Amino acid sequence: MTSLTKHAIENFKIVNKASTYEIDQNMVVQGKQADNERLKIESDFLRGTISDDLNDRITGGFTPDNFQLIRVHGMYQQDDRDIRAERQKQKLEPLHNVMLRARMPGGVITPKQWLAIDKFAQEHTSYGSIRLTTRQTFQFHGVLKPNIKLMHQTLNSVGLDSLATAGDVNRNVLCTPNPIESAVHQQAYDWAKKLSEHLLPKSRAYAEIWLDEEKLETTEENKDSIEPILGASYLPRKFKTTVVVPPQNDIDVHANDLNFVAISEKGQLIGFNVLVGGGLAMTHGDQSTYPRKADDFGFINVEDTLKIAEAVVTTQRDWGNRVNRKNAKTKYTLDRVGIEVFKAEVEKRAGISFSESRPYEFTERGDRIGWVAGIDGKHHLTLFIENGRLLDFDKEDQSKQLKTGVAQIAKIHQGDFRMTANQNLIIAGVAEQDKVKIETLARQYGLIKDDVSLQRTSSMACVAFPTCPLAMAEAERFLPSFVTQVEDLLVKNNLADEAIILRVTGCPNGCGRAMLAEVGLVGKGPDRYNLYLGGNKGGTRIPKIYQENLTSAAILTELDSLIARWSVEREQNEAFGDFVIRIGVVNEVKVSKRDFYD
Ligand code: HEM
Ligand code: SF4
Repeated sequence: MTSLTKHAIENFKIVNKASTYEIDQNMVVQGKQADNERLKIESDFLRGTISDDLNDRITGGFTPDNFQLIRVHGMYQQDDRDIRAERQKQKLEPLHNVMLRARMPGGVITPKQWLAIDKFAQEHTSYGSIRLTTRQTFQFHGVLKPNIKLMHQTLNSVGLDSLATAGDVNRNVLCTPNPIESAVHQQAYDWAKKLSEHLLPKSRAYAEIWLDEEKLETTEENKDSIEPILGASYLPRKFKTTVVVPPQNDIDVHANDLNFVAISEKGQLIGFNVLVGGGLAMTHGDQSTYPRKADDFGFINVEDTLKIAEAVVTTQRDWGNRVNRKNAKTKYTLDRVGIEVFKAEVEKRAGISFSESRPYEFTERGDRIGWVAGIDGKHHLTLFIENGRLLDFDKEDQSKQLKTGVAQIAKIHQGDFRMTANQNLIIAGVAEQDKVKIETLARQYGLIKDDVSLQRTSSMACVAFPTCPLAMAEAERFLPSFVTQVEDLLVKNNLADEAIILRVTGCPNGCGRAMLAEVGLVGKGPDRYNLYLGGNKGGTRIPKIYQENLTSAAILTELDSLIARWSVEREQNEAFGDFVIRIGVVNEVKVSKRDFYD
């Protein structure tokens, strides 16, 4: 029996607990519902006519409704934007393909699983690469229609799936990686897995369409119980959950809807502070959209985790804006109904009261590149992977074959791999006697470079061109050379050992989390970016716009003068983001909605 069949059967056992909450209509936005609502409800629990489209080989793409629906199955339809115009000239349809994103709570993957995805990327993706994403999973880019089913079956054969990694559902659950560093990390990871399973769609559509499993008809009798948590219309918008172990905030809680902050006593996890309503996406020129920090609802005991998660999700399901998708995320629901009202509803639904939050602090977000010793006598090696791009950059030169290098390590590695939210890769659980072997391979294939600066490891970009249909400016392809120029500015000002958290996203949707950076660039057009300043190291402050529509050259000029001032005027150890606020270059964003645009 496949893991997905087992999963579906288990789910079917629990679907019968009906979830009937009385919905207060005053909390619901009235008006004509967005078209996505129609297609979700008409989809027969995510099936749509995806199977028919798959068999239609005249086009490489999917019809409009299925184009949206396949997202919940973990895929985006895309085309290569670098060759789009050329194909149009030749009167060809765009070269449609799909991007797939796997579900991987906490970013953990075994060597066997790694070797399977490596082989698939090599043989069946047009870019031949594996991309480590900013949400602890990997993406394949450029999979053509005839290979889509094979892709899902390959994943399933090694116990992986891509269910609910995009679309209006709870997506891949993040967790501070390297669980073996402490017992609390291990326990936090266990909760990330449980949360992911609990909040998954329970429909059998994925198993039927991709794994050829038996179809389960929707009937009058079963239709109300198929999706007890998400409901037949699923969520109003995407929903993101994390489990985080302070003082690390590597997963960036304020970019996520629902966050469980691990609180421990005597080295054991006792519960979580729950933060709700973070999110970074906005639209240029539309002030009803804004990045927002999550609010602290209070502390819960560890055994109440799933009940609280379910109550937050169902409250957002019932109260979230289904009329305007731009205001549909949890962050807007909280601002519309009031934080206390939302929280009281969660308490009512869960039958649990939040108690006062326990103290904790976030101080850093970076990964510790290199070896770290764990609690169990094992060692963990974090590799810096620039922009998460695992590719063989040069067929002749082994020292540039990153993807082959990781595969070679997977062949001998006894532990597992962990993807980080900073797009890096941890080779976790290495025995003392295997350290040299692993490190030698990593060096041989260019996975360890001793001259990588702290500035480079503190920089991040989203994918943008050529695959992302929403990209307005370059991000991933532009970042490496831009970082080199920022490094030069730091050296020039005697700050070579310092770093600024620098992030670039190709459009205001914010996949590269620029709205939690000390210096954030948000794409507006070809070589045009809005420049935001003033985030902090711990990721608890949203930056503010400094100047609009700048070229990258103009941004460097601005940074040149600001870094020069920082070098002479800074207080002891003062970070760049704190400095620009103290000297009044930008005002601090204290309350997102109020201060972000004023
Ligand atoms: C309305 C808002 C958003 C839309 C429409 C959107 C859409 C997309 C699309 C189309 C891609 C695929 C790009 C490619 O791989 O070619 C993507 C990638 C991604 N997005 Fe978003 N996104 C949004 C907001 C966000 C936010 C706020 C985050 C996280 C804070 C996020 C996290 C990611 C991640 C992790 C990837 C994978 C690639 C990477 O690591 O950059 N997205 N998004
Ligand atoms: S931020 Fe914009 S350009 Fe970058 S991956 Fe997300 S949607 Fe695409």
